[in-house]
Amino acid sequence: MTGNCAVILAVGEGTRMKSKQPKVLAQVLFKPLIDWVIDSARACDLGEKNICVVTGHGKQALCAHLPQDVETVEQTERLGTGHAVMQAREFLRRHGSGNVLILGGDAPFMDGETARLALEYHTRTGSAATVISAVVSDPTGYGRIVRDANGDFSGITEEKDASDDQRQIREINSGAYWFNVQALLVALEKMEQNAKYRLNAAKEYYLTDAIEILRSMGQRVSTFNSKNEAVALGANDRDQLAQLNEIARQQVIRRHRLAGVSIPFDSGIVIAPDVQIGRDTEILQGTILKGKTVIGEDAVIGPNTVLENCVVEDGAQLVQTFGTDARVCKNTQIGPFARLRPGTVIGENVRVGNFVEIKNSTVGNETKISHLSYIGDTDVGEGVNVGSGCATVNFTGKEKFRTTIGDHAFIGCDTSLVAPVRVGARAYTGAGSTITEDVPDDALALGRARQVIKKDWVKVKKPYRK
Ligand code: UD1
Ligand code: CA
Repeated sequence: MTGNCAVILAVGEGTRMKSKQPKVLAQVLFKPLIDWVIDSARACDLGEKNICVVTGHGKQALCAHLPQDVETVEQTERLGTGHAVMQAREFLRRHGSGNVLILGGDAPFMDGETARLALEYHTRTGSAATVISAVVSDPTGYGRIVRDANGDFSGITEEKDASDDQRQIREINSGAYWFNVQALLVALEKMEQNAKYRLNAAKEYYLTDAIEILRSMGQRVSTFNSKNEAVALGANDRDQLAQLNEIARQQVIRRHRLAGVSIPFDSGIVIAPDVQIGRDTEILQGTILKGKTVIGEDAVIGPNTVLENCVVEDGAQLVQTFGTDARVCKNTQIGPFARLRPGTVIGENVRVGNFVEIKNSTVGNETKISHLSYIGDTDVGEGVNVGSGCATVNFTGKEKFRTTIGDHAFIGCDTSLVAPVRVGARAYTGAGSTITEDVPDDALALGRARQVIKKDWVKVKKPYRK
């Protein structure tokens, strides 16, 4: 852990998103922008309680979303990026011995690797401030990095304040910086006290003026040119957000491919940034992997499978499956058309077939639940066979109860198991049974009306039928 800290600016209203939510909660690959930025800050080894987010619009929703160890301050008036950082002065004073990473909360591609390399550079050069810059094909809207005849960094000019020549510059300010905390506090003080710093086109306190102030004080200011051209990208509306999604989607797919995951076609495949996938696993079309899903090696996922926060072990195959907060162990086959709901753990070499829903249940190794069944709040043993069309009756309309099925039990087709109930090991239930009482080990339970035959009933009752 270092004495360094981070301040994330997240006041943006995002009017053009036309959302009730603050802009930084908009998602790229199902992950809110602010979470991308926090993860980048954490990649700089800041330690706990070293991140402060400047909030404003949608403050409540944002604070409710942020992790416990992240501090917040509020900027009640939007008077510019310099003013936003002023709101975090008390936080900065508490971290006065180190450097601070300033990040825009709406720039998700400012990655941790770049931030770390920039810190190394900042420390090595003994700079009071280091601006992370990038050379982009379209610099419109960004602050330009201005250099003197020797190519030395001389300052940042905002587009609104730039001359025609300066507008041609393609090296831009990403909006991310490392500052020596003490130097930044001094610069903010000067910025606030001297009215000339608000004579810019926007009449705002520009954080970029802190760079100029430090330079005029004879302190060293540097730029760190990012190899990642996308570092500064943000989105103002949902169309631009979709472009960020597409960039991120392609990047994540490419990363997995280069790490040995087979993704022969990428159509309809969306993999969230924190998903892990093992080598030789195949991801097929229409598959969406969200949250912290972890997939082992040699698995086959898809087509058309959606998994959120699931763990899938080596060699498992999930076809047309929807899973949330579930675990599937080795070599198990699921689907097509299966649903795994939260709290489900399915053992090894299990077969879960079409139109099967499993919720908050454990299923032992080698068990088969092949067709059209609902298993809820149940502990199913090993080597069990659940016939077609079975249901656990787990809900009375008021309360939920559990069902237990012992090892090697055989649940006949169309059995209803009315919970709380236990079927013993190796026990059978007759097809069509409604089981309301516990079945002992090795027993057969029949809970259905005995069949009656009415001879010649059709001839008597339906004489008109040929
Ligand atoms: C700023 C930089 C510009 C850079 C660009 C990168 C300044 C003066 N300019 O531009 O050089 O190229 O970022 O995107 O800093 N924010 C607040 N409170 C405010 C104003 C902004 O918290 O009063 C936050 C925004 O929510 C956002 C970040 O600061 O997360 C950047 O704001 P934005 O308005 O996009 O920056 P610009 O001033 O356009
Ligand atoms: Ca901007």
